[in-house]
Amino acid sequence: MLCALFGMPKLTVKDLNVRGKRVLVRVDYNVPMIEMAKDGQIVINDVTRIKETIPTLDYLIEQGAKIILIAHLGRPKGQRDPTMSLRPVANKLADMLCHPVAFVDDCIGEKVEKTAGLLQPGDVLLLENVRYYNEEEANDAAFAEKLAKVADLYVNDAFGAAHRAHASTEGVARVIAKRGGQCAAGLLMERELKFLGEELEKPERPFVVILGGAKVSDKIKVIDRLLEKADSILIGGAMAYTFKLAQGHKTGKSLVEPDCVDVAKSAVQKAKARNVQFLLPSDNIVATLVDTGKLNKKGKQVFHPENPRLNTQPDIPDDAEGFDIGPETVRTYSDVIQKAKTILWNGPMGMFEDKRFAEGTFAIARAVAGATEKNGAKSIIGGGDSVKALNNAGLGDRVTFMSTGGGASLEFLEGAVLPGVAALSDK
Ligand code: 3PG
Ligand code: MG
Repeated sequence: MLCALFGMPKLTVKDLNVRGKRVLVRVDYNVPMIEMAKDGQIVINDVTRIKETIPTLDYLIEQGAKIILIAHLGRPKGQRDPTMSLRPVANKLADMLCHPVAFVDDCIGEKVEKTAGLLQPGDVLLLENVRYYNEEEANDAAFAEKLAKVADLYVNDAFGAAHRAHASTEGVARVIAKRGGQCAAGLLMERELKFLGEELEKPERPFVVILGGAKVSDKIKVIDRLLEKADSILIGGAMAYTFKLAQGHKTGKSLVEPDCVDVAKSAVQKAKARNVQFLLPSDNIVATLVDTGKLNKKGKQVFHPENPRLNTQPDIPDDAEGFDIGPETVRTYSDVIQKAKTILWNGPMGMFEDKRFAEGTFAIARAVAGATEKNGAKSIIGGGDSVKALNNAGLGDRVTFMSTGGGASLEFLEGAVLPGVAALSDK
C-alpha cells in the first residue's frame, strides 16, 4: 500500500494481478544524450532514470505481464525529431535488463496494436517518444483513448513526469480506470513518494534542510512549507544573495531578485516565530566579471568570472559577484548537518560546474554523506542539480535516497498534488 500525501492511499504494482495482462507502464526515460562527433553515435550520458525502473520491470517480467513502456524524451513539440528518438534507450534498457526489448517507432496506431497483440507474458516493448504528438502535452482525450487501446492495466513509474497532466501521465489512466482497469504506482514512484513524502511528514529530529540554487522565487513555496517542519534551514547558492539584500547588505554584481526581498524577509520572520534556525552564509567566494569581448546566441556580452577570492565581509564589493559559500559557512553548516537525524537537500551551494566554485557544494555533500554513515541520518536528495553535484563529488551512493525528479520533486515538496499520482486508483 502506498500513502499518497494529501490524498487517498493509492494502489501499487504489487496490488495488481498482472499475469498475461497487457500493462502500459509510463516511465521517465528523459535522459541526457549526446551525439558523438566521430561516428554520429548517440550516447546516453546518465542512465540513472533507466536503472531506477529496473525493479518494477523485473517484477512485471517475473509475474508474466506483457509490458508496454511509454515515455517522452526532450521537448520535440509535436515534431518527429530523430535526435529525440527513444530507440537508443531501448538498446540500453535491453543491456541493463538482460532481457530483449522490442521497439516500435510510434506510440499509437496499427503498428503498435499489432506488436502489442503479439506480446507473450514477460515480453517488453518500448514505444517511440510520446511527445512526437502535440496531443500528449495537450492531454487530448481522443489521444489518451488511442494510447489506452493496447492496455488492460496502467502503471506509472515516471515520478519525474508526474507533475505533468499529460495524456500518458494522466489522461490514459483516467481512460483505463473508466473501463474498470486498475492504475497503480510503480516501485520507483512508490519509493519517491515515500522518501519525499512520508519520511518528511514525521521526520526524525533534528530535521535539517539545505536549500540552494539560483532563485528565491523558485524555492519560496518549498521554504514556506518546510518552515513548518524543519529544525534548521541552511541557505546557499545565488538565492542567498537575495536574503543578503533583504538584510540591507550590498550584493555587488551577484544574482539577486529585488522583487523577492519581501518574501525573503517574511521567511526569516516566520523562521523566528516558529523557532526554526535559519542560517545564511557568513562568507563567500566572489569573483570579478571580465568582459570576454564575445556575444552569446542572444547577442548579449559574455562575462567570465576572474580572480576568485574569499570575501568575509557582510557586503560584497561593488565589482564582484558571489559564486560559492566560503569555508566558515561550510564549517557552520557542517556542524549543524553532523547533528541531524533527517536531512533534505535541494539545490547546490554555488556554481559547482566550475571547479573554482565547487568546494562549498562538495564539502556540504561530504558532510551529508558523513552524517548518513556515522550518525545514521536519513539523507534525502531532492533531485535536479543537487543529484548531479553529489554524483560529481562521487558521493551519490553514500546518501539514503536521491530523487529522479527535478521539477516534480520541487512541486511535490511544495505540497502540490501531482496529477500523475492523483490519477492512480485509490486503494
Ligand atoms: C524532466 O526531465 O524534468 C521530466 O522528464 C519532465 O520533463 P519536462 O520538464 O520536459 O516536462
Ligand atoms: Mg523539467
